[in-house]
Amino acid sequence: MKYWQVEDMIKIAILGLGTVGTGVAKVVAENHRQIERKLGEPLEVKAILVRHFKDGPYRQLMTDDFSQIEEDPEIRVVVETIGGMEAAYEYTKRALETGKHVVTANKQLVSERGWELLRLAKKKNVNYLFEASVGGGIPVIHPLTQCMVANRIDEIYGILNGTTNYILTRMVRTGAFFSDALREAQAKGYAEADPSADVNGIDAGRKICILADLAFGQQVDPDSISVEGISKLSLRDVKVAARAGYRIKLLGRALRMPGGGRTAYVAPHLVPEDHPLANVEDVYNAVVIRGNATGDVLFYGKGAGELPTASACVSDVIEAMQRSAKREEAGWNGDTDGFVDPLEAATRFYFRIEGSLTDAAMAFGQVEVLSEDGETGFLTDRITGREAREHSRSLNVLSCLRVLE
Ligand code: HSE
Repeated sequence: MKYWQVEDMIKIAILGLGTVGTGVAKVVAENHRQIERKLGEPLEVKAILVRHFKDGPYRQLMTDDFSQIEEDPEIRVVVETIGGMEAAYEYTKRALETGKHVVTANKQLVSERGWELLRLAKKKNVNYLFEASVGGGIPVIHPLTQCMVANRIDEIYGILNGTTNYILTRMVRTGAFFSDALREAQAKGYAEADPSADVNGIDAGRKICILADLAFGQQVDPDSISVEGISKLSLRDVKVAARAGYRIKLLGRALRMPGGGRTAYVAPHLVPEDHPLANVEDVYNAVVIRGNATGDVLFYGKGAGELPTASACVSDVIEAMQRSAKREEAGWNGDTDGFVDPLEAATRFYFRIEGSLTDAAMAFGQVEVLSEDGETGFLTDRITGREAREHSRSLNVLSCLRVLE
């Protein structure tokens, strides 16, 4: 048997003890043997930053004073699971400044300030890693920035929010009410502290921005992209789409535009039922990355929840400790030039109008009819969002959704 001295252990701190923070503590404890085999030394949680002390298995590790963590030279990695901006941003900067690696699941912070924090990490010769910020337990950031690095990335799209995918699945499969399905997603630890960020597409927006930043090398601000969630979706559209061979999914999409610009947006889409994303259900996420050498590569797995997200965080902790300090970091610059309005992106569109097929044809020319029963559901040819908006001005539009081609 091998005996470790206390100073042989790698010590980490966790900031926050919500769903993800608790998961990190659990994964470190439950998988300590595998982790030790990888690192050659045991990994130990030395401190957990909380706002309010709570009884439980981690009581002895809790502190409400970040400077205790910051000033502790034994703590080499800080896992930030507080979420949000203010405290998370301040503590991340302070941890990096003092030469600690930082690992996070914080989509908001990475999408808004990631380029700057990566620059600071590089200056301090430490790592800022955020695999858990997109796709929960699915490895997607590392494959994008490492395995696919020889490619020009032309497009990324996917189901990036577990809560809304869970809600849509429950509503379609069992006819559950929106509010009941949301409550279930919250109870399972999928939803954000403020679930309106899930429902309104904001969470998926942050994630597609991070992927776009990494793919295109320039900042895409979450505030500059158009974001639409599932709150306005009608079950009528779900049924019309299903009869025509489509499922409705909330997708984030980032693409390189003709002419060299780039764009990103989040919106519900009709997905053909033979497309791999059509059968991604419950909390599962799936991301397609299109490289000019690889073609489409699909990543699939649990996109939210305590243990999947914690798995990505702890893997980043291990990577931070293993990585050579000389390795070039993935990153992007803070310049937002070249962002094109997503209205310029072209797809087919689905419309449901209060009106006839003749009205639809007058507005769009040739259309493909999906339903005609007082209202008319139809698909347009491939047009830009701007054209869809202009041509439909004269119509009484009940729904308008993009179609995934
Ligand atoms: N609220 C997020 C989701 C958590 O439902 O996908 C994982 O990022």
